Amino acid sequence: MPKTIYITRKLPEVIIEKLSSHFQVRMWDQEDVPVPREVLLKEVEDIDGLICLLTEQIDEEVIYKAQNLKVISNVAVGYNNIDVQAAARKGIIVTNTPGVLTETTADLTFALLMAAARRIVYASDYLRSGEWGAWSLMQLTGQDIYGATLGIIGLGRIGEALVKRAKGFDMRVLYYSRTRKPDKEQELGIHYMEMEPLLQHSDFICIMIPYSKEVHHLIGKKELSLMKKNAILINTARGGIVDEDALYQALKNGEIWGAGLDVFEQEPIRVDHPLLSLPNVVTLPHIGSASVKTRMNMAQLAADNVMNVLNGKQPITPVRAES
Ligand code: NAP
Ligand code: GLV
Repeated sequence: MPKTIYITRKLPEVIIEKLSSHFQVRMWDQEDVPVPREVLLKEVEDIDGLICLLTEQIDEEVIYKAQNLKVISNVAVGYNNIDVQAAARKGIIVTNTPGVLTETTADLTFALLMAAARRIVYASDYLRSGEWGAWSLMQLTGQDIYGATLGIIGLGRIGEALVKRAKGFDMRVLYYSRTRKPDKEQELGIHYMEMEPLLQHSDFICIMIPYSKEVHHLIGKKELSLMKKNAILINTARGGIVDEDALYQALKNGEIWGAGLDVFEQEPIRVDHPLLSLPNVVTLPHIGSASVKTRMNMAQLAADNVMNVLNGKQPITPVRAES
């Protein structure tokens, strides 16, 4: 009797074919609609492996329904959608997709930084709307990137990849991270700072930490008030790290200059959300890792993790329960 895998959203055909040649595969096959909770709860009852996206809450209820489950494979590096402790208590292995998306996400983060600094989306809309009367000196002016100071919160894989891009723009790079990294300071020519001074001294602030309850609204009213008036906040990590109401007020009142957001507290963000009414915010629908090659690699790694565990081998990229 082959083992059973449930996949919570359509994956590329080649990966489904590979999985299907070894396992019984069931899948929620609607592209843009997440699997309804009641369907997920029913589907997990008899499965051995689960491949899920960050849109699925794999919490204690799901985990306890899944009596045979051996592995939960998230097609994302962030795994705050999974109750890793509950899985560990049931001896279920959790895996994610680190590394394969690092450069692509750093590219997007830098693109968002540049778009926010130079008002690219706003300027494009301005042209298309027919408002462009004539070239004029201070029209659509933004902030310089070259030579500016970048503060990175969370010097992990993507944070470090971001430094390499920033160095190409001769930026001074500050970082705050859970663990200080003197070797990286030497190698990359960057400077460690506690969060408060980093917020005070940076022209651009990029958030690159994983989400957990401990960092909920890490960036709120007080932190925003410490930033420079010309500061631009970029968040491609997770929406819950930033207090969106406080951010809206800071942007509206000119306490900071702009923001670039790929992630939101609620996804999809409501189209009538106040943040979307502001001209000084660039917003994207969580596309950090969205290149064809990287999404294929993520799906492949997620599939390989499940196949390994169900074939009695070690997972390639397991998540540690205590992290
Ligand atoms: P990573 O390599 O684990 O890096 C995270 C870094 O943050 C680590 O250096 C970690 O410190 C540090 N950190 C953790 N908690 C912290 C805290 N409370 N305060 C300060 N620093 C803290 O992860 P990654 O691969 O770079 O990915 C980072 C996050 O980006 C993911 O978790 C995910 O949420 C997000 N992401 C988003 C997209 C997107 O599509 N927008 C794509 C990929 C990733 P240590 O060195 O001590 O562990
Ligand atoms: C995307 O947000 C990821 O965590 O991979």
